[in-house]
Amino acid sequence: MAPTDVLVIGGGIIGLGVAWRTAQRGLSVAVVDPSPGGGAAQVAAGMLAPVTELQYGEEPLLRLGVASNERYGAFAAELTELTGLDTGYRRTGTLAVALDSDDREELRELHAFHGRLGLESQWLTGRECRRLEPMLAPGVRGGLHVAEDHQVDGRRLAAALVAACKLLGVAFHRTQAAELLVDRDGADGDRAIGVRLLTGEQLTAGRTVLAAGSRSHLLPGLPDGVLPAIRPVKGQVVRLRIPKLYAPFLSRNVRAVVRGQHLYLVPRADGELVIGATTEEMGHDTTVTAGGVYELLRDAHELVPGITELPLVETGAGLRPGSPDNAPLLGPTALPGLAAATGHYRNGVLLTPVTADLLADYLATGELSPLAADFTPDRFRTEVPA
Ligand code: GLY
Repeated sequence: MAPTDVLVIGGGIIGLGVAWRTAQRGLSVAVVDPSPGGGAAQVAAGMLAPVTELQYGEEPLLRLGVASNERYGAFAAELTELTGLDTGYRRTGTLAVALDSDDREELRELHAFHGRLGLESQWLTGRECRRLEPMLAPGVRGGLHVAEDHQVDGRRLAAALVAACKLLGVAFHRTQAAELLVDRDGADGDRAIGVRLLTGEQLTAGRTVLAAGSRSHLLPGLPDGVLPAIRPVKGQVVRLRIPKLYAPFLSRNVRAVVRGQHLYLVPRADGELVIGATTEEMGHDTTVTAGGVYELLRDAHELVPGITELPLVETGAGLRPGSPDNAPLLGPTALPGLAAATGHYRNGVLLTPVTADLLADYLATGELSPLAADFTPDRFRTEVPA
């Protein structure tokens, strides 16, 4: 098999985005994944909410998220123009609401924090929230409207990315990477040179990109200390259907913290309503549990009582890839020839466009944008004893 310029291990939306953008820059690209377009994007609700989900102390992640959010419209439009496939990108805005006075206080603090950072959000009374979204519970005490936090459909996005990669000549190897190949005889020290597949075939490449989510650090052959452990954080979601008769049931993303758990409802243009998500550290387990579904429906019912009238069409669970600081790993690793695009935790869908651009620029030019400076894998570098 002829070597490619770039080999991407992992064909979730992050790996596919990197492959697509890299192929656009004229490099030859191959992707290794048993089912490209699978992974967490098949489960995710697709809320693009860097401002609504802002956490104290995560301002660098906010900047990355806002940069990606600002690229989303053009990214989605370009994909649709190329492939003819809709990504479900919708400029809906997001309403974060408070169900009690403690929540209201927290949202007020978030609003003040937005103001200090120059971010747009609007404080609304409970009545104003219900005017925007009449299905909200009468007990809603107030909320924050974030006009620029939108949504995309992860499944449609993944399908469009697979199609775009194919149109640009990206080669797909529908199997697993069994081992990272490392050349240990080079004059300049060790270098990643590709992978051996489960089929026994060897693929060589100028640069290998590890984009395998919560399995990234488990690739055999990866030298110790190059990547930290990426922990799988399970999220269960349920999907309901809004019959035409009830539309518009909700017009924008709605979120709240209920009993300490983040809850969100994402209404799509095609009538799907996604409710998520649990946060569970259970290893690589994607079992849907009665308890998980019960909690989601109970909490969503508190927020929007009318959901109990809607048909329940699907349940599912995905794994968020959590790095030790919950921020992504972007760019070159300590092993020459190996770059990372993983560890996106709760923000994989949001960060797909910016990750794709940053990695493709790096792979094409050798230069990593300053936007990635806080996210390089070397922040976790551990010295390995000789
Ligand atoms: N970004 C949504 C979640 O991780 O649940």
